[in-house]
Amino acid sequence: MGRGRDHRLRLFVLGSAAGGGCPQWNCLCDVCRLYWSGDERVVARSQSSIAATADGRNWLLLNASPDLRDQILRSPRLSPAANASPAERRATPISAVLVTNGDVDHIAGLLTLREKQRFPLYGTAGVLGMIAESPVFQVLDPAFVEQRPVAIGQSFEPLPGLSVEIFSVPGKVPLFMEKGEVDVGEESEMTVGVKLSANGRTAFYIPGCAHLPETLKARIRGADALLFDGTLFADDEMRQAGVGEKTGRRMGHMPISGEGGSLHAFDGLDIARRAYIHINNTNPILVAGSDERGIVEAAGWTVTHDGMEIAP
Ligand code: MLT
Ligand code: MN
Ligand code: ZN
Repeated sequence: MGRGRDHRLRLFVLGSAAGGGCPQWNCLCDVCRLYWSGDERVVARSQSSIAATADGRNWLLLNASPDLRDQILRSPRLSPAANASPAERRATPISAVLVTNGDVDHIAGLLTLREKQRFPLYGTAGVLGMIAESPVFQVLDPAFVEQRPVAIGQSFEPLPGLSVEIFSVPGKVPLFMEKGEVDVGEESEMTVGVKLSANGRTAFYIPGCAHLPETLKARIRGADALLFDGTLFADDEMRQAGVGEKTGRRMGHMPISGEGGSLHAFDGLDIARRAYIHINNTNPILVAGSDERGIVEAAGWTVTHDGMEIAP
């Protein structure tokens, strides 16, 4: 079962929301308020993570969100029993983990993976170094969890048949490491995007991107699928919603709409499927039937939801 001919790229959305999730525990912005009031136009979304497989049995976890345990509970394909023999007492189809930056929504779930389970943890040397220096992450026993730094542009195969390459995208250091003037939009190893390939199919996962240089567009051209930063619809949305002063760009997230937004930035690049992910709870595309949902769908985008499977 699941061998040979079954090899194909599949992506599974564990968490489609940005940090905080939707609704966020303490938020009464217009979108969260709809959810809290029981309005079915807003469904709950957990925090930012996907999984990828090439054989349907072994999964690469891309980002480990604070909601990881619940995400596993809701995904039979990630249950410890999914591939294990009756005699096994510890098992998981999560065979490897990759983090794209050091933000809390992408690393806090590593603490959930602490129970003496063997897996390699991939990321840039910068992000893995930051994790290694943080005493609380010492709960990931190095005897079980091997940190494997990967260089920008280096291809590796974390799972049989799945090829992965990371590349720098414009971003910044994690929020909790910001000090003084923050260089937002620099291309460094603190924020990366991921190219996933299997069996001739290619998908890109870019949950955070401050702006879109031509080099990045050229890289993505012709992809079978793109999961892209859908944090905010409008750059000043947090301010408009009355929940914060920061713009999306200041947070390292280019907006969907407006000048330099992502809505039409990929037009003409021959990308078969485009979907927004890492969506902040203030974003009106989360409301089914909203004008903004209509705008993104009319422009060829899908709004991801938790549990969505994408087979590019
Ligand atoms: C972000 O994507 O901007 C971060 O997840 C913010 C955060 O850590 O709350
Ligand atoms: Mn985030
Ligand atoms: Zn909210």
